[in-house]
Amino acid sequence: MPKSARKHPVTPERIMQLQWAFAPPLMLHAAVQNRIFDVLDEGPKTLAQIASATGAAPRGVRALVEALAAIGVLRRKGPRFSLAPDISAFLVRNKPGFLGGMLQHLMTQILPNWIKIPDAVRTGRPIHAVNQELIGADFFSAFVEDIYNLSRPSAQALAQVVARHCKAARWATRVNVLDIAAGSGVWGLAIAERLPQAHVTAVDWSGVTPVTRKVAVRLNLADRLSVIEGDILQADFGHGYHVATLGHILHSEGEARSRQLLKKVFDALAPGGMIAIAEFSPNTDRSGPAFPLMFAVNMLVETEAGDTFSQSEMRGWLAEIGFTRIQPVRVPAPTPILLAVKPSRA
Ligand SMILES: C[S@@+](CC[C@H](N)C(=O)[O-])C[C@H]1O[C@@H](n2cnc3c(N)ncnc32)[C@H](O)[C@@H]1O
Repeated sequence: MPKSARKHPVTPERIMQLQWAFAPPLMLHAAVQNRIFDVLDEGPKTLAQIASATGAAPRGVRALVEALAAIGVLRRKGPRFSLAPDISAFLVRNKPGFLGGMLQHLMTQILPNWIKIPDAVRTGRPIHAVNQELIGADFFSAFVEDIYNLSRPSAQALAQVVARHCKAARWATRVNVLDIAAGSGVWGLAIAERLPQAHVTAVDWSGVTPVTRKVAVRLNLADRLSVIEGDILQADFGHGYHVATLGHILHSEGEARSRQLLKKVFDALAPGGMIAIAEFSPNTDRSGPAFPLMFAVNMLVETEAGDTFSQSEMRGWLAEIGFTRIQPVRVPAPTPILLAVKPSRA
């Protein structure tokens, strides 16, 4: 036996952990659905108190709550359980940062397709091609509002950068914002909240724009939103935009369509106009981080040509088209933002 194997014997421990890695998100979902985090946010409780406050079965509560405590989601002091701070901030319904809708999306829309992942790997074809309008409009309209909170802090950070750019460019009267693949409109509407002179044009499929409008109404911004309905490569964007946002769209388009889209955005921007791209990005040699690479697997399962792209890949595409001042922006989110500017004399 080699010396290293004697020192570190090979065990199935890691495989056991990986095999059961499906359990934590399902347990979180079960806790959100049964309002266990909601009642614990009111204060620490015993198992019996949790069962009584939620109406869930004592047997179910005991199994779930003890397991959630064992993975650190709940804290345990004597017979009472309480919430870890991140669970209190993001998985209690009615809190401004609530992300439970994302779990709902994962469980109902993503998992059923991932179960068939061996087929996607064998054929290289998606299980459920959400990049096609017929499937995609229903798919996205069901969850784009659920991912609003995920991007909102980043969108607010971007809005500040845009405000500085507009000031430097002396765009005081009207700022035209093109929000491509708008979904909830989180990116464009955050800019409109920050800049009273901004008007947002949101592009998305006709099955999804009612959600964009609904969010704009909720934010009192309906009179500063227009929509263009249709495929992002077919629709006529018009021109003269000062800012264009592409939030989480390049990954489902794949390289060829993404590059066409970026060129189309370049043409639609006014000289000096800015593009902002939010994407899950692996590093240049695709050796990590794990999440963007697992998201590329998601694109295999859900799209015809989708993928995740490194920042240097996207920088190369932008530079080739003629964008300058290409730079990342630090934002409080899992998806970094890449900014670039159309030269004033393009
Ligand atoms: C992942 S969501 C992102 C929504 C929003 N930008 C965000 O960051 O939260 C992708 C959006 O792109 C839209 N979309 C995807 N493919 C499209 C296409 N070919 N034409 C028009 N809209 C498309 C979907 O309807 C959905 O609203």
